[in-house]
Amino acid sequence: MTWLGERFEVTVGPVAHGGHCVARHEGRVVFVRHALPGERVVVAVTEDRHAGYCRADAVEVLDPSPDRVERPCSSSGPGRCGGCDWQHVDPAAQRRLKGDVVTEQFARLAGMDVSLDVEELPGGPLRWRSRARFAVDRSGRPGLRPHRSREVFVLDDCPITVEPAADAVLGRRWDGAGAVDVAVDSVGGVTTTTLDRRGHPQSTRVVRPSGAGATGSRAERKAWHRDWQVEGTGFWQVHPAAADALVGAVAGFAGVRSGERVLDLYAGAGLFGGSLAAGVGAAGQVVCVESDAGACAAASDNLSDLPQAEVWQGDVDAEGLTELLAELDGPPDVVVLDPPRSGAGREVSAVLADTGARAVVYVACDPASLARDVAVFAEAGWRLTGLRAYDAFPMTAHVECVALLEPAR
Ligand SMILES: C[S@@+](CC[C@H](N)C(=O)[O-])C[C@H]1O[C@@H](n2cnc3c(N)ncnc32)[C@H](O)[C@@H]1O
Repeated sequence: MTWLGERFEVTVGPVAHGGHCVARHEGRVVFVRHALPGERVVVAVTEDRHAGYCRADAVEVLDPSPDRVERPCSSSGPGRCGGCDWQHVDPAAQRRLKGDVVTEQFARLAGMDVSLDVEELPGGPLRWRSRARFAVDRSGRPGLRPHRSREVFVLDDCPITVEPAADAVLGRRWDGAGAVDVAVDSVGGVTTTTLDRRGHPQSTRVVRPSGAGATGSRAERKAWHRDWQVEGTGFWQVHPAAADALVGAVAGFAGVRSGERVLDLYAGAGLFGGSLAAGVGAAGQVVCVESDAGACAAASDNLSDLPQAEVWQGDVDAEGLTELLAELDGPPDVVVLDPPRSGAGREVSAVLADTGARAVVYVACDPASLARDVAVFAEAGWRLTGLRAYDAFPMTAHVECVALLEPAR
């Protein structure tokens, strides 16, 4: 018999990957959203499709956690906008929960005992999202989808989104579009791209202040004392302070020396490779590898003043990587990789563990993918010698990690 729609009381257990907490009821696991560890709550079951577990929202809090706060966004909450996971959680407690998730993922997927403080980025927990995709309903009204729903929760504002991006999209009509991508760059340029219902781009509009350096569909970003051009709504760290923080962590872990060879895999517009290029100097080499043609073109322009840096367009997969390594004049000293959410995967990780590099610096937005891949390095005799994590996505359960792997001696 399904529990869908049923209500019952539970005591909420630890946080889990994905922004929910784990509770138990009549021997079954219940993944509870809108709750905090230790709380006694009434839940309403929202999904019951699996024998072992169901999903539920906390709809009444009987015994609140001291970490519970009033939600700053009136659109969040059970059955409402699904853009945030933890509007009801004090920001410092959000960081503790993210640290708990990283610890749990490393224990479960890599058999490693790690503990860490998730570092706060400047700017506060609201108005940090400089790049966003909003869904559009059949009437042309923009918003975000409720958790695990195809509906659109219509929004007039989104308090985690920077104001120029929210103003450019929300409270307007986007007839004929299925979604709108928006990005605000470091000099206030706003790019909006509409997408059809299958996710194909329809049209792009760029509004930039006079005197901006970027042209065409490019946006201008600043990080690590350099200017970077990026395709308008193409990949760039979403939090305005994230690029600097991550480059700082990567540079600290990599410790590159003059004359070294560095691979920057999944390079985007060349952020990490370009930032490390000065360290390897004219005698060194930096190779940025990226699959997206627009990002490669931007990276080539961004690195044009660094003769030691080059951009190779191609897929990072086991075969492509093996070919790339064969074409280099020698093995890399340092490999930096920053793959999408799914991570590099076991095959790519196994190839990287066999390159002879003295260090691998792995930037990851999903601690589960990271822990899975770190386990592959560990099996090949590498050690996790550094791990930092950043709250680059406040109010959500997401966390950005930077890991240092070194071959065991
Ligand atoms: C998380 S972003 C990182 C970009 C860059 N490191 C930065 O911080 O700005 C991941 C990048 O990997 C690229 N990408 C995704 N899959 C890829 C693959 N299999 N091979 C090469 N690049 C890939 C995407 O186009 C995207 O630019």
